This record gives sequence, structure tokens and C-alpha cells, in this order.
Amino acid sequence: MKQPYEKYTKTDHLMWKRLFERQMEILPRLASEAYLTGIEQVGFVADHIPNLTAETNPRLRALTGWEVYVVPGLIPHQEFYQHLANRQFPASTWLRSPEQLDYLEEPDMFHDTFGHVPLLCQQAFCDFMADLSRVALRFIEQSHLIERLSRLYWYTVEFGLIHENGAQKIYGGGILSSPGESAYSVRPDVPKRPFDVEVILNTPYQIDRFQEHYFVIDSYEQLYASVPEIEKLLENIEEKESVY
Ligand SMILES: [Fe+2]
Repeated sequence: MKQPYEKYTKTDHLMWKRLFERQMEILPRLASEAYLTGIEQVGFVADHIPNLTAETNPRLRALTGWEVYVVPGLIPHQEFYQHLANRQFPASTWLRSPEQLDYLEEPDMFHDTFGHVPLLCQQAFCDFMADLSRVALRFIEQSHLIERLSRLYWYTVEFGLIHENGAQKIYGGGILSSPGESAYSVRPDVPKRPFDVEVILNTPYQIDRFQEHYFVIDSYEQLYASVPEIEKLLENIEEKESVY
């Protein structure tokens, strides 16, 4: 599949601009440095929807060896993790309409690209996603283990915070593409927990409201270094269950 770039209308480009500017008004104070640098490295600007083939992918490939891979929408777990393991980030290309400004049934291209792609310039973060996906593919037939592993993806890639210069900053794409949750997640009264693989594997999530708590990493290297522990814990769960 290719991004149907010529099919985007003026209204689409204006919608992108509106969403982009709304987020960039608040994110310089709230987002992780890696994300803010990534926005520039990947060349995202307000005045047009990024052209993935012509603009985004050549930059990403040069920086980290990753690329954005166009998909029609949500795809099955196996396909999803297979792409990530191959250093391809699956992204849809349709953009929300004005009526859908703040509520979406499933992720659109603003979420997938604006929310996620800038972090694809951060090598340790990329390595984490690829290695986590390798583990996912190993357990892909066991849906209960995949459910556990998806909590790791959820509380990091989608809704993760990071300690930076004495503050908590956002790097999760689910937060970065939502104005409400961007402001909410970093509020001092909202519960935060230190990144702990075992705790996360045991923490279910809700998809239809803000998170009850957020997990805060110390560095992207910490994420990448946690994958062997994730794999070990999943092995242990598998073993325990096979006893019964
Ligand atoms: Fe996402």
C-alpha cells in the first residue's frame, strides 16, 4: 500500500495544520527532548501532511534504519509485530474529519505519524520496539501472553513518560497526539509509577479513557535493556501454566 498523497484535499492539509499547531503550542513544555528533536529531524511542519515516501522515510532510514509502512488501519497482532521486528512502523494514512476532531474510533494518520514517528529517530527506543516484537512473535500463538506483552507496549510506546532534567516528560504517542491527555498526564496529582516490567505485565489498561496511572522510565536505554526480563517473565508464566 502507498500513501495516496495526491488524494489529500485542502481541507485535509488544513486539518493537519490545525492539529499540528494545537499540539505544538503545548508540547515544547511537555514532551521529551527526543520527541521534539525528532519532529525537526523527520521534517514535520504545520503547512502540509508529511509525504511519507518522499520526505519522511529517506530521513528515517538514514537516522535509525526505520521506515513508516502504510497499512489500511488496525492490523492483526502477528502482522503488526512482524513489521516492527523488521523496523517498519505500521501507520494508516486517512485523516480525521472536522467532526472527529477529538474523538476517534481508531487511530488516524495524525496519531500514527505525529504521535509516533518523531521517536523513530531515537535508536534505543527503536531497538526496544524491534526486540519487544521479536519476543511477541515468539509467543504469538498464546493470546494470553500477547495480552500481557501488549501492556508493555501500551504503557511505553503509547502512554509512556520519561524523567528528564528533574521533570516528567511525555514520549508516548497516544498522549502526544491528544491535547487533553498531554496536559493531564503530567499533572502532579495524577499517579505516576516507576517503570517496572513485572508490575506492567500485571496491570491491565483501559482504551476508552485517560490512564489511571503512568509509568515513568529513566532513559530509552532502560527500555531496551528491559526486554530480556520481559522475555524471562513471559517464559515463567508459560511454564507455570503448563504445570496445570
Ligand atoms: Fe499508537
